[in-house]
Amino acid sequence: MGEFPLKILMVSSEAIPFAKSGGLGDAVSALAKALFRLGHDVRILIPRYYSIDKRQLEQLEGPMGVPIGNLELWTSVYQTNLPETDLPVYFLDYEAYFGRSGIYGADSQHEYMDNPERFALLSKAAFQLCRKLSWVPDIMHVHDWPSSLVPVYLKTTERNSEFKDTASVLTIHNLGYQGIYSKEHFPFFGLDWTEFHGSGFEYHDALNLLKAGITSADSLSTVSPTYAREIQTPGFGFGLDGLLRHRSRELVGILNGIDTDTWNPETDPFIPAHFSAENPEGKALCKEALQKTFGLPVDPSVPVIGMVVRLTEQKGIAEMFGPGYGAVPEVCKTMHAQFAIVGSGDAWCEKELKTLSHLYPHFKARIGYDEKLAHLVEAGSDFYMMPSRYEPCGLNQMYSLRYGSLPIVHRTGGLADTVENYNQDTGDGTGFMFDDPTPRALYNTIGWAVWAWYNRKEHITLMRLKAMQSTFSWEKSAGEYVALYSHALALHASKR
Ligand code: ADP
Ligand code: GLC
Repeated sequence: MGEFPLKILMVSSEAIPFAKSGGLGDAVSALAKALFRLGHDVRILIPRYYSIDKRQLEQLEGPMGVPIGNLELWTSVYQTNLPETDLPVYFLDYEAYFGRSGIYGADSQHEYMDNPERFALLSKAAFQLCRKLSWVPDIMHVHDWPSSLVPVYLKTTERNSEFKDTASVLTIHNLGYQGIYSKEHFPFFGLDWTEFHGSGFEYHDALNLLKAGITSADSLSTVSPTYAREIQTPGFGFGLDGLLRHRSRELVGILNGIDTDTWNPETDPFIPAHFSAENPEGKALCKEALQKTFGLPVDPSVPVIGMVVRLTEQKGIAEMFGPGYGAVPEVCKTMHAQFAIVGSGDAWCEKELKTLSHLYPHFKARIGYDEKLAHLVEAGSDFYMMPSRYEPCGLNQMYSLRYGSLPIVHRTGGLADTVENYNQDTGDGTGFMFDDPTPRALYNTIGWAVWAWYNRKEHITLMRLKAMQSTFSWEKSAGEYVALYSHALALHASKR
């Protein structure tokens, strides 16, 4: 069984600063870094997408053959360290699969047709890489459906190999994405058809990669305690709640932290003035810069509601912007508040944001992905809107708390675990929460926040102070993952 320090291989489709489409990329690198700081031998494997410049990396000697099914695919591996650490990050290079600009598709609407093959190769290559390095990890920690085949291979083809004592942990960052494909892809994986059954890959006669991972991994986790409970119910289970209830004893919720090297209002290089709970003055300058940058009327007395978001159903875009029924156009018509939004995603919503920006001088949205602007929005806003239908953890509400922008959130998943609802009698709390994910409830809650802004100024000051003092430490989360790894190793040993 593994001993301290543990050898941990993270296999993922995303890891910042190399590849990111959402919070997964942030979480994987930050967790790895925190584990590394605790003294563990942790390493990361991701694909070498076209957007990752090879010239910045070092190539490992020789090609690496990856046997998969009846094939042997010839790949190469590049390496560098995670910035400011000695933590090795390996990049699987295979031009035919990863020599493209996107991670999952050319854009968020068009997935690559060969994703099962692409990510099966990544999963299979994890083992070949370890062989090449003569390094057998105690734990293979995989994230979401793209690396879900790793636990399957550990349990099947690698069962009696040098990896026989390696335990697997699968973290579910978002149950809404399961990797469901036609079963025609199955033969490529090089697994026996006997693995294609209702307690494995099979899902309504199709392939479900996440489901296979959930049934095979020694231990399971998700990214907040509330989400861990929610996904075991039909309302949040995306068809896998029964399976998750079945594996309930092996499933834990561990809250993500935030990377305070990047998200710290006292040092953030992207914002025009620094501030903290003790010295909050700089925030007013950030608000002014935000209003100027977005072309909003520069007025410190009007509250700014910010948001940085992937425009997908999950995030409550219909409840916010649905034409004719969304809450935000109503707010624009009836309340004295401004909006500053950065986002990209579903085409109808991008269009709606452009229309609203055109219609209202106090509503401005930037379409696109913009890291720098994201920091300015967090720093310069007074409130942060996050009415997600479901939210496994959510990073933005934690960033906003740290930057003193009070979140307006649906009480679900990680939002429920990180935001404390406003108590109108005492002024206690860090944000504004609602229970029903409807446009009406969102409208009312924005109204409540705006009311407090104009009528309970002293409460807003108190809440902002409390919000900025919240700590979401990766060190604490990493400690909980280490406990999970020990548990996974014990479970794995008991099965052998
Ligand atoms: P999710 O992963 O579901 O999108 P999270 O809140 O966990 O939600 O993480 C989102 C991450 O992606 C945050 O770091 C956020 O700042 C970033 N992000 C999302 N959209 C954009 C955008 N348009 N521009 C810049 N950053 C963005
Ligand atoms: C997913 C979830 C988000 C979470 C992130 C990192 O993208 O949607 O809630 O914060 O993963 O774990």
